[in-house]
Amino acid sequence: MQPREAYSSGPPGRGRFITIEGPDGAGKTLQAQRLVDALEARGLPVRSTREPGGTALGERIREILLGPGGPPISPGADALLFNAARAQLVVEVIRPALEAGTIVVGARHADSTLAYQGYGAGVSLAALRALADVAVGDLRPDRTILLDIPAEVGLARKTADGVTRFEASFDVEFHQRVREGFLALAAAEPERWVVIDASASPEDVGRQVLEAALALL
Ligand code: TMP
Repeated sequence: MQPREAYSSGPPGRGRFITIEGPDGAGKTLQAQRLVDALEARGLPVRSTREPGGTALGERIREILLGPGGPPISPGADALLFNAARAQLVVEVIRPALEAGTIVVGARHADSTLAYQGYGAGVSLAALRALADVAVGDLRPDRTILLDIPAEVGLARKTADGVTRFEASFDVEFHQRVREGFLALAAAEPERWVVIDASASPEDVGRQVLEAALALL
């Protein structure tokens, strides 16, 4: 008997999967919301997601990973937990939406694990890619928008009460490696990635994000 592939289904459906990636403080949440609003204003069916989160399981895992007073978590455990949340989001939300023809705008996806747990924390990229295959199957973003910002600038933008465990517990060198990691991923797959300088004004960045999305549609 063939094993049941709960985590993997066929090729991506008719929708489009656009992800927004970047270091902490790059403005992903704001820009993802602006993009959703702009696409909706054009009458397009859109759904937004955030990672980790977006499902009952994912929100519980988010609390463990990023909530205040959480337990110590090793980079390997981080990689597994982020991917566990991702696997559930793909099955419950992303694939059904794409199959229904919806544009899915994701604030972070699998590239964040490569950048943070791989380039940042030193987990093997090959191992992380194998793990991502379990979580997402053959799903790949159609377009990934990198909001690029120097680590110090991004970190300085965050207010003390809005910081995640990664901003609070990892040094600036970690965040510099994360940024370099994102840039390396973008350089390796230029047909998927669009790199935008996120130190420009939110309006400027928003225009470029919309342009990158519309070029795909
Ligand atoms: P955010 O929702 O504010 O972007 O916070 C998510 C935090 O989790 C951020 O510091 C990046 C980190 N993260 C990882 O380390 N690996 C991952 O796979 C994802 C999705 C996020």
